[in-house]
Amino acid sequence: MENSASTDGAVASPQGLDWTDSLNTGDARMDDTHHEFVTLLNELLQTPPERQLPLYRAFIDHTVDHFAQEERWMVATGFAADNCHASHHATILETMRAVVEHFEQGDTDIINRLAEALAEWFPQHAASMDAGLALHLKDVGFDTRTETLADPAKVRPASMSGCGSVTCS
Ligand SMILES: [Fe+2]
Ligand SMILES: [Fe+2]
Repeated sequence: MENSASTDGAVASPQGLDWTDSLNTGDARMDDTHHEFVTLLNELLQTPPERQLPLYRAFIDHTVDHFAQEERWMVATGFAADNCHASHHATILETMRAVVEHFEQGDTDIINRLAEALAEWFPQHAASMDAGLALHLKDVGFDTRTETLADPAKVRPASMSGCGSVTCS
């Protein structure tokens, strides 16, 4: 696969994803988690298939926590639990888990293929749904370090099912 620049300027290549300013969402804790995600993704792409599986399992575990963290913040700031950002996460995780079985059945290139697809997917997700969430968190005064609202009266529980400031596709 040739290098390709996504619309926001981050570049995915067979070696992984270069962190660029355009990946920053505006929330420091979210960005820390995203840095870890990109580091694990790049490590995976730079590891030969025979040594990928343990790293891949750790990457899935990290992604479970990464997505759960965002979903916890969404629920704490007024989203219904089954909002569309969360269902995008669920689809990605389902695909990531299915890959383990295919790999174990002999498709030893599948982790590479998925990792390359995730390197294409992530910049768009970070720049749309995650950045939209970061903006929403700021708007309602939610501190992601302490996971508390400055003024809980500003949030109506489960009142939103969309993705905040961005449209869902
Ligand atoms: Fe994220
Ligand atoms: Fe997300």
